Amino acid sequence: MTYHHAAEATEYVSSQLRTIGYWLSAVKCCDYSGVYPFQPLVGLLGCTGYQMASLHTIAENGFTDGMMYDMHRPSYTSESIKYILDYIGEAGKRADDVEYDVLELGAGTGKFTQKFLQFKPKTTRYLATEPMPEFLTTLRTELPGLETRQCRADDIPLPDSSVRAVVVAQAFHWFADDESMQEIWRVLVPMGKLILIWNCKDNSKGWLGQCEGLRTKYCDSHSTHYSAFKWREKLNEFKGFRQNEHLYLPGIKFQGPKSLMVGRFASSSWISSLTEGKRKKALDKINDILNTDPDTRDAKIICMPMLTDLYYYAKC
Ligand SMILES: C[S@@+](CC[C@H](N)C(=O)[O-])C[C@H]1O[C@@H](n2cnc3c(N)ncnc32)[C@H](O)[C@@H]1O
Repeated sequence: MTYHHAAEATEYVSSQLRTIGYWLSAVKCCDYSGVYPFQPLVGLLGCTGYQMASLHTIAENGFTDGMMYDMHRPSYTSESIKYILDYIGEAGKRADDVEYDVLELGAGTGKFTQKFLQFKPKTTRYLATEPMPEFLTTLRTELPGLETRQCRADDIPLPDSSVRAVVVAQAFHWFADDESMQEIWRVLVPMGKLILIWNCKDNSKGWLGQCEGLRTKYCDSHSTHYSAFKWREKLNEFKGFRQNEHLYLPGIKFQGPKSLMVGRFASSSWISSLTEGKRKKALDKINDILNTDPDTRDAKIICMPMLTDLYYYAKC
């Protein structure tokens, strides 16, 4: 086959690698990691690997440094994990063809995964998925032996009705589109559960409100943020899921020196996706706020107040 344009060749190689990934996954001898040996080749050809095209640009440019993200993000509360396990309960236990009890989408570096695994019964079959290769690498390093696959929410490499529960931590706002919701609906067993959880910042503290306020100044895509609740509108419009419960639970204790707080902001996709100059300006501004606010300027340890926001849905 002759290619006159590098772009066409790139697209062809991408699609071939993806087909290989699917094939390997289909015969169950490997998951998308089978594509990994080819990743440098994909990079050389200037494409971004496994179909990144339909990831949100801020997510695609912002979630690239797994180590940095992992170092500066909080875990989840034990209480929230126990609630989630209770909610999943026996749902779909008797359904035929169940491959996984829990499918995690947008697992990132495994912040939620690690916590969940501490509590999950031994027999629970868990699959963690993540589209960004850099995050997936950290996830696999942190949790060797865990079953993982590289995929986006709108393209889940599993058969229909093969999962009892889908869990999404701190990520559903990135893919609350019809394709992803349809895909989640498709892989869930009848009456399967969809669980969405966020660690959210309690912005009533002056310094935190001020730092968060910078988001709208530096990033014009606030509507994708969880707190804009566009994802909730989309989910309600979709009609394939019934909301069963919404809980605000006490948040995870997240505290540390000023550098941890600055790092927490630096790991936010809206900052890490900025150009170098803008990112520096935004982080300087955050440092200024922390160095002047009476609650933080002299504090050795700063506490970032958090809440846990938990939503339960069921396939209908
Ligand atoms: C804020 S991180 C949360 C990561 C992890 N769940 C946690 O609790 O730390 C958002 C994650 O969503 C993933 N993501 C973004 N768009 C996605 C999509 N279309 N499908 C699946 N995951 C996506 C990102 O790659 C990233 O890992």
